[in-house]
Amino acid sequence: MEQNNAVLGIVGSPNPQGRTNQLVSAALEGASGAGAATELIQLKEHVVAPCRDCLPWVCMDNLKCSFKDEAFAYLSGKLLSCGALVLGAPVYWWDVSGLIKYLILKMFRVYARSGPLNGLPALGLAIAGGTGNGLVSGLRPLYHFFQMMQMRALPPLPATRFNFPQALDKAAQQGEQIAGLARERAPFANLEERLIWYDDLPYLDMSRAQERELLAALTCSAASEDMSPAQGLARARARGAAGQR
Ligand SMILES: Cc1cc2nc3c(=O)[nH]c(=O)nc-3n(C[C@H](O)[C@H](O)[C@H](O)COP(=O)(O)O)c2cc1C
Repeated sequence: MEQNNAVLGIVGSPNPQGRTNQLVSAALEGASGAGAATELIQLKEHVVAPCRDCLPWVCMDNLKCSFKDEAFAYLSGKLLSCGALVLGAPVYWWDVSGLIKYLILKMFRVYARSGPLNGLPALGLAIAGGTGNGLVSGLRPLYHFFQMMQMRALPPLPATRFNFPQALDKAAQQGEQIAGLARERAPFANLEERLIWYDDLPYLDMSRAQERELLAALTCSAASEDMSPAQGLARARARGAAGQR
């Protein structure tokens, strides 16, 4: 598989013009501005079939799905050859879309044992575009994927429709950052190093209550740009204590 340094953006929403696309595109624009080649893929154009659990488990040795799946062959080829990954998910019921789940599960089955993506820089974006609930839990499947595949993930970007302009700016900044990392992959030396790396990432270990506090803080700080997240959080807590939502 021929390697390149391109930053690959995957839009995990069935809406090619939706918010997921806007976030992934913003990250790719940031990467492009920093000199990286980029490529955008709409997952809805390459729908992976569910893993059928080949037994005996030969795909982990053959490094290809035992069943005909052109979408998976195409996407796995792109993942194996890119220099960095930006994976964007719409939040559906505090989780990611089925489009993404089918890709992730098949990638685990075929490649998790051999670890060909060790050190691949990766950024996960999740957009909770309704109530905003699930802005962190929607990121977890993406980061579980990155961790199991041994990718070197950047801090996740929780996004809601309430802080969307700020999230777009942040996505562009992180795109710029990942462009630099795409030039030289830094594989993990061992499991401990990888576990510590992922334990140090923000947001992912939040409780449900903390997640809702984050939602309140992001919403308040976006509503009033001069209000810090700490002030927004304090205001959200005060409103909560007063029985207000
Ligand atoms: C089946 C379904 C479930 C959803 N669940 C949530 C949710 O748990 N939290 C939320 O904030 N928004 C939820 N939404 C709203 C989407 O996150 C929102 O429409 C988002 O913008 C979708 O991404 P897109 O614009 O790229 O399609 C849901 C939407 C659908 C269709």
